[in-house]
Amino acid sequence: MSHKIKTLSEYFQEYQKSIDQPEQFWGQIAENFRWKKPWDKVLSWDFEGPSVKWFENAKLNLTENIFERQLPNLGEKTAIIWEPNDPKEAERRISYSELYELTCQFSNALESQGIQKGDRVIIYMPMVPEAAIAMLACARVGAVHSVVFAGFSSTALADRINDCQAKMVLTSDGNFRGAKNIAVKAVVDEALERTDCIEKVIVYQRTKEEVTMKAGRDVWWHEVIENESRSHAAASLDAEDLLFILYTSGSTGKPKGVVHTTAGYMVYSHYSFSNVFQYNQDDVYWCTADVGWITGHSYIVYGPLLEGATTLMFEGVPTYPHAGRFWEIVDKYKVNQFYTAPTAIRALQAYGLEPLEPYSLDSLKVIGSVGEPINEEAWHWYHDHIGKGKCPLVDTWWQTETGGIMISPLAGITPNKPAHASLPLPGIQPIIVDAEGEELKGNNVEGNLCIKFPWPSILRTTYGDHKRCKETYFSAYPGLYFTGDGVKRDHDGYLRILGRVDDVINVSGHRMGTAEVENAINEHPKVIESAVVGYPHDIKGQGIYAYAICDMEDNTQEELILQIKDTVRKIIGPIAKPDAVQIVPGLPKTRSGKIMRRILRKVASRDISNMGDTSTLLNPEIVDQIIKGAGL
Ligand code: WT7
Repeated sequence: MSHKIKTLSEYFQEYQKSIDQPEQFWGQIAENFRWKKPWDKVLSWDFEGPSVKWFENAKLNLTENIFERQLPNLGEKTAIIWEPNDPKEAERRISYSELYELTCQFSNALESQGIQKGDRVIIYMPMVPEAAIAMLACARVGAVHSVVFAGFSSTALADRINDCQAKMVLTSDGNFRGAKNIAVKAVVDEALERTDCIEKVIVYQRTKEEVTMKAGRDVWWHEVIENESRSHAAASLDAEDLLFILYTSGSTGKPKGVVHTTAGYMVYSHYSFSNVFQYNQDDVYWCTADVGWITGHSYIVYGPLLEGATTLMFEGVPTYPHAGRFWEIVDKYKVNQFYTAPTAIRALQAYGLEPLEPYSLDSLKVIGSVGEPINEEAWHWYHDHIGKGKCPLVDTWWQTETGGIMISPLAGITPNKPAHASLPLPGIQPIIVDAEGEELKGNNVEGNLCIKFPWPSILRTTYGDHKRCKETYFSAYPGLYFTGDGVKRDHDGYLRILGRVDDVINVSGHRMGTAEVENAINEHPKVIESAVVGYPHDIKGQGIYAYAICDMEDNTQEELILQIKDTVRKIIGPIAKPDAVQIVPGLPKTRSGKIMRRILRKVASRDISNMGDTSTLLNPEIVDQIIKGAGL
C-alpha cells in the first residue's frame, strides 16, 4: 500500500503536512481502506471533555480491510506462522484465505452462542493462532474484545470481567510455557465464582489435559465451530464503535479499561506498522510480545494483517528449551523484522554470545525495541550482535492508550541514535512541559511528555468511567494529553524517554501501579500498611520493592515475607510478585500523612548517600531504622 515514507526528506515533508493539514493528511491515508459508507468529517475533538471522533459517521468493518480488501492479491500468502512452545511439535502456517475462513467460521459460532454487536468478550488464551482468530471474529461481528494476559490471576481476571460486564470468555484448557503447563481453564473457573455476567465459556483444546466443563455454560471450541459455515457477512460498524478494551495499570489501585474504537485504530495501527518497520511484500515479521498486551494487538495482529504481512506468533519463552531459541526461530523462518523488549534483550545478553553461535541471523533487516527505555548497553549489544551492526534499530515509544507507535525512528530512514526513541511519527505532536505546564521549547530541555493534538488511535475513554479518563490523562495539563513519562529533547532535537514520572513502575516492560501492588499486599491479614516502589533491576529494568508494617505476633519475618509475595502472586499474578519485601516498624510520613516515597526509593536502590530534606517528616527517626533494616 502507498503512504510508505521512503526518505528522510519525505518524512519531514509528510510530518509538516500532518501538522498543517491533519484532516487532509489522514483523510488521504484512510482512502486506501474499504468503507461501507464514507465519513462526513475526518476529525472533531476537544481535549476538555475529552471527546475525539475520527472519520465521523463512516461505516466499515475492520476485518473486511484485512480480508475482502486484500484477498484478491494475497489469498495464498501466509498470514500467520505459528511456532509452538516445543520445537519438536509441528509449526502451523495459515494463509490469508484460510485465516479468512477460520475467522468467518468462528464469527458464526460466536453468534450462534449468543454474541451480538456491542457485547463484551473476554479472551484469556495462550499464544495460539486461535487467539488472533478470536479477536478478528469479535471485530467481524462487532463484539468488543478484551484480551486478558493469561498470566493474570483469577482475581485479576474476575475484576476485568466484572468491570466490563462481559458475556463470554474464550479460553483454553491449558497453556504450554517453557517447561510449564499452566492450567488456564481452572483459573477461569475460579474467576467465574466471583462473577455473574458470563453466560458462555468457549474452550480451545491445546494441552488436552482434563478440565471441568460446566454443563450449559462451557463448550468446546472444536464443537461449536463444527457445523458453522466458513463465510460470514461482516457487521457494518460505525467508525467510533468500540473495537476493544484493554486493561492497564495506573497510579490508582484499580486497572482501567482503555477503550479503542474501530476506524481510527485501524488506520493508525496500519500506518505506523508500515512506516516504522518498512515491511516489504515477501518479508517475515516477528513481534515477540503476547497478544495480552497492546503490542500484541497492534503489532502481531492488526497492524501486520492490515498490511498483508506474514506475522509470526511464538507460543513459548525466549529461554526454552535453550537460550538460543529466539535466534533459532529467526533462522528457521528467515525473519526480516524482529521486535522485542529490552528486558528480553538483557536477559539473553546475560547468557553471553555462545547461544548465538549456531545461528547466522542473516535474514534480519530491522530490529525493534518496545516497553521501556532501552539502556545504552543493551542497545549496543542488540545492535551489534543481533543486528550485526547493519540493521536499523527502532526504539518505539508508545502506550496502551496511544494504540500505536508514537515516537520512533523509521527503519533505515531516521538516523539511529542509541537509546533515543528519536522523532515523532507524522500526525504526532509531542510537547514538553515543566511541572507548571509551561512549554519547554527548543533543544536541550527535559520535562514531562504531553501530546497536544489527537491522532487516530488515541484512547477514547476508560470503560464505564469517563471521568477517570479525563482525570488521568487530560487534567494535569488542561488541553494536553499527559503521557506520565519524562522526556529529554537533546541538542539535535531527538527525543529520549526517561521513564515514568508517576507512581507507575515498569517491570520487564509491564506496567504496574504501585497502589495496585499495595492493595494486594494489604489483603494479607497480618499487614497493617504497605508502600511499594520501583528500583533499578539489571534484567527487569525495574524491580518491585515492598515495605510492610506487620503484626508480628505469630510469625517470623521470613514467613511473612514469603506469604506477602505469595499473596500478590495470587491476587494479581506472577508478574507483580515483589522482588524484595522489607518488614518495617513504620513508614516515613509527612505531617499531612503522605508517605515520602523518595526516601523509600533511595533505600530500595541501595543509594543512601544523599537522603535530601527529611525535616518535614512526622517521624524522622524511622528513616534510620529503615536503612538499618535494609542492611545498609
Ligand atoms: C509505558 C507504556 C507500548 C507497548 C508496551 C508498553 C514505557 C514503552 C518505551 C520506549 C521508553 C517506553 C513508557 C510508557 N515505554 N515503550 N520505547 N522507551 N519507555 O505499554 O504497558 O501501556 O506502558 O511503557 O513508560 O508510558 P504500556
